[in-house]
Amino acid sequence: MKIIVTGGAGFIGGNFIHHMVNKYPDYEIVNLDLLTYAGNLETLKPVEGKPNYKFVRGDIADREFVYGLFEKEKPDVIVNFAAESHVDRSVVDPGSFVRTNVMGTTTLLDACRKYGIKRYHQVSTDEVYGDLPLDRPDLFFTETTPLHTSSPYSASKASADLFVLAYHRTYKLPVTISRCSNNYGPYHFPEKLIPLMISRALADEPLPVYGTGENVRDWLHVSDHCEAIDLILHKGRVGEVYNIGGHNERTNLEVVKTILRALDKPESLIKYVTDRPGHDMRYAIDPTKIEKELGWEPKYNFDTGIQQTIRWYLDNQDWWKHILSGEYSSYFENMYGERLSGK
Ligand code: NAD
Ligand code: TYD
Repeated sequence: MKIIVTGGAGFIGGNFIHHMVNKYPDYEIVNLDLLTYAGNLETLKPVEGKPNYKFVRGDIADREFVYGLFEKEKPDVIVNFAAESHVDRSVVDPGSFVRTNVMGTTTLLDACRKYGIKRYHQVSTDEVYGDLPLDRPDLFFTETTPLHTSSPYSASKASADLFVLAYHRTYKLPVTISRCSNNYGPYHFPEKLIPLMISRALADEPLPVYGTGENVRDWLHVSDHCEAIDLILHKGRVGEVYNIGGHNERTNLEVVKTILRALDKPESLIKYVTDRPGHDMRYAIDPTKIEKELGWEPKYNFDTGIQQTIRWYLDNQDWWKHILSGEYSSYFENMYGERLSGK
């Protein structure tokens, strides 16, 4: 079995490659990644020398390149993680999200049609369902919840999902889609909430909490997400969508305070800043379908997973310090400079 994993130099794709390369030594894993600001080959160091792994640099939206790669590699399975993934960046530059998340996905789908594959798996997000109100804790996203997006990021991901399902209905392409809640864990790029707060708390720098910090996210350890995708590839039904989440809802403020406590840092580091435009209030997944149908269950809950993750950031400071010393520092200044200085 040959699997092309796109976006494998990013956070979740990188963790998925570690998982697959180690668990299935007889599978060939090809990592296709453009190495944008979010792609980091240092994440792949633990698997670099393995005979069942190789890296190819390229753009999923470059049709000529993608067709050439399919012709050469003749993959059985595609797992598409490649995406622009940060909501805040999508507010500033929606076009790059349309290009990669929509055009990139349709380019991969066209290649799958042209060359034939056993499975195309689209890694999607719970953000396609929009948000839930804070005063209705009884409500959860199921696979039949209508798509109702808020940000250019979630609109691009929902659009990609619709194309994936259309290619199944129209061309009988064997597809599956997973929609996971917020991930955390090793190799998470330090622009996202949890690694941003860990790295800044360690440096005794102010922690920018948007709005009141009451927004709720449903956190899942990345290794549980990878297990779920592995299960869907092997046992999932073609044409189906599977929600993935472990009922670990926390307000942003709870997350930040947990990190501060674990690092023995004061809450005075918290700085409330101007809210994100269109900020979704609450995400919460109902994972009944994947639990019942595929027998998936998470190994971590938030309390155990966050401690493991903080430990990883303490033990792997080189990994994230290399990122913070690069072009990311100018992004941080543009995104937060005025908000943190109170202008
Ligand atoms: P990430 O930003 O860490 O990684 C994205 C990777 O895609 C990077 O390595 C980047 O170089 C690569 N890439 C970007 N554009 C590309 C292109 N045009 N061609 C080839 N490669 C390209 O993202 P992530 O957090 O690992 O998310 C991976 C996927 O999972 C995304 O599709 C995202 O929508 C989805 N997802 C993320 C979360 C989360 O909490 N992070 C939750 C649910 C779903
Ligand atoms: P993020 O990690 O960007 O994921 P998403 O927006 O896809 O859920 O943000 C998680 C939550 O944390 C979200 O409600 C926005 C909030 N947040 C902050 O309060 N401050 C920050 O600096 C960042 C990056 C996020």
